[in-house]
Amino acid sequence: MLVNGERHRLTVDTRTSLLDLLREDLRLTGTKKGCDQGACGACTVLVDGRRVNGCLTLAVRLDGAEVTTIEGLADGDDLTPLQQAFIDQDAFQCGFCTPGQILSGTACLREGHAGSAAEIREWMSGNICRCGAYPKIVKAVEQAAGKR
Ligand code: FES
Ligand code: FES
Repeated sequence: MLVNGERHRLTVDTRTSLLDLLREDLRLTGTKKGCDQGACGACTVLVDGRRVNGCLTLAVRLDGAEVTTIEGLADGDDLTPLQQAFIDQDAFQCGFCTPGQILSGTACLREGHAGSAAEIREWMSGNICRCGAYPKIVKAVEQAAGKR
């Protein structure tokens, strides 16, 4: 498996989730475990460019896959436009949902689903924020889409 551009040869239990593989085996703890049952989006990562819930994805399915986590987005100190927009818009409070929000927003932008605030809300609806930072999260995605 390729994780953030780095090749890993791993042997995993067939029951291991991608989320646990990332956090426990590869020590990439930026990806968060919220509900561990597909309801919150805190564990969102990209697999071959598509967003998935890491807690619902069995790691053994991903032989040869390319996985991107929050640790793999920035180029050194150069943040992606969406990461910078989250800072500019102050789009978090506790920050626990933020890695998942940013990965989901990254895919939302690439998919062309950031045409309006309503569209962003719809296509980011799988990412829950207990702090209720939604208005600023939407503004951050709008900024990255060039709408602010
Ligand atoms: Fe995966 Fe909540 S931890 S959706
Ligand atoms: Fe706290 Fe979203 S910033 S859960």
